[in-house]
Amino acid sequence: MASDEKHVIVTGASSGIGRAAAIALADKGYNVHLIGRNAERLAKVQAETSREGVQSTTYQLELTDKAAVQQVFDEIYAKTGRIDGLVNSAGIFYTTDVFDYDDKSWKEIMDVNFYGTLYPSLALLPKLIAQGFGSIVNVTSVDAFDGIANYDAYAASKGAVTSLTKTLALEGAPKNVRVNAVVPGITDTEMTHERLLENIEKYRKKVPMQRAAQASEVAKPIAFLISDDSSYITGQSLHVNGGWRLA
Ligand SMILES: NC(=O)c1ccc[n+]([C@@H]2O[C@H](COP(=O)([O-])OP(=O)(O)OC[C@H]3O[C@@H](n4cnc5c(N)ncnc54)[C@H](OP(=O)(O)O)[C@@H]3O)[C@@H](O)[C@H]2O)c1
Repeated sequence: MASDEKHVIVTGASSGIGRAAAIALADKGYNVHLIGRNAERLAKVQAETSREGVQSTTYQLELTDKAAVQQVFDEIYAKTGRIDGLVNSAGIFYTTDVFDYDDKSWKEIMDVNFYGTLYPSLALLPKLIAQGFGSIVNVTSVDAFDGIANYDAYAASKGAVTSLTKTLALEGAPKNVRVNAVVPGITDTEMTHERLLENIEKYRKKVPMQRAAQASEVAKPIAFLISDDSSYITGQSLHVNGGWRLA
């Protein structure tokens, strides 16, 4: 049933930047639909995002399963009658070596980081276009813009999402549907915490602000791009990196 209530779907909501984005959006009054795989962690984020006037719902979903993604998105839309935004934050990271290439790692990283963004976007875009509004925010990485040794598959997967962001923005623009990316630098989450501790001096030199971002500092720009405050911004990559690329 369509109403004035606003609804946002967040993938990767069980952890890190996705969790923080769900909290930032709930703070702005959006009802949040939290997607992840780990039921226990999803339940924790559900509690953190439930507040008066805001409903938080969880969905356990493997994002590389295209049919399952379509089914869950259809179910959410059937219940809400409108979706205002989608945050594609789910992702995985590990190093790969171009000289020790293996299909399995490349496929896994592309499956989650690229197809795990493409499938939710394709499941939702026709609905957003039909309703005449909506905003998709993809979470990419500074590594999509700067080549980085041993991050071959990860950087390529985020480069693919950067291109997808621009193409889908063109498709959606005539119907008031916006598609943007937030490009985090190093952010202290489960994905990076150990690497951060091991490489703290390297990152201090690389990042002019001399520290990692907190997930909430990436989440607020995501919430801005979801909201009508960014109503004329589409097809853009918003870098949130403490000045990384200036150094
Ligand atoms: N942290 C950084 O420094 C940094 C920098 C640049 C870009 N990024 C990007 O930011 C995004 C979020 O990263 P993060 O640091 O928040 O990572 P994180 O804490 O490890 O969270 C990753 C999230 O992705 C979900 N996920 C992974 N594989 C999935 C799959 N196959 N199906 C469904 N969900 C899946 C996880 O769900 P479950 O745990 O429930 O399985 C989890 O919620 C990623 O796209 C990452 O590449 C991060």
